[in-house]
Amino acid sequence: MITGKKKKQEDAPVLAVDGPSGSGKGTVCRLLARELGWNLLDSGALYRLVGIAARNHRVGLDNHAALEVLAGHLDVQFQPGDDEGRVILEGEDVGPILRSEEVGALASEVAAVPAVRSALLTRQRAFRIPPGLVADGRDMGTVVFPDATLKVFLTASAGERAERRYKQLKDKGEAVSLPRLVEDIEARDRRDSERAVAPLRPAPDAVLLDTTGMGITEVFLRLMAEVRERGII
Ligand code: DC
Repeated sequence: MITGKKKKQEDAPVLAVDGPSGSGKGTVCRLLARELGWNLLDSGALYRLVGIAARNHRVGLDNHAALEVLAGHLDVQFQPGDDEGRVILEGEDVGPILRSEEVGALASEVAAVPAVRSALLTRQRAFRIPPGLVADGRDMGTVVFPDATLKVFLTASAGERAERRYKQLKDKGEAVSLPRLVEDIEARDRRDSERAVAPLRPAPDAVLLDTTGMGITEVFLRLMAEVRERGII
């Protein structure tokens, strides 16, 4: 029955984890989802995919109507696998470019378009299925899941976030410069925090955690402790 199914979906607990790039959200959300056996929403990947689709279809970033159509009709499959799994966009495995700096910059531009954000809302909410969802993004606790069971806002200094990103990209064989990354991260923070729609900021009821100087395991254990203390599991 449709009503029964809908109620169940809305009842599934959500752990909303927001914060700027390099705050450790992505890794910690994957660990949390694995530990809890919950679904994982990497909402940044959706904005990145809209950016790639726009580039593939030669849609200008100022053509908001066309971007809205792309966002509303993303032909994407998330295939489970080792680590991050495979992401197939319109039949093409976009894994190798999805996390690149270039695609991140495109994503940040399309994410500032209100029509793109609303076109992605339903798709994001569909990830909420029992037994629960770990949602990683910028507006998970403020806009997409305002009724989330637990809201966390992770941050870290821009310098440390740039260093983390530097290591990640170097490991993937991307040529990067650290000072350039610091500049890019600060520019992206500004764009993400100052945009009119769903700007990056903690929900009033979010638990704030500054991860500067913390390892990923420590962050994971802190959040698992929070989940247990609140009786979520
Ligand atoms: O987390 P990420 O680096 O993959 O995100 C890519 C871009 O998408 C980033 O600039 C911010 C934007 N984004 C957003 O505006 N809202 C989200 N919920 C997730 C990402």
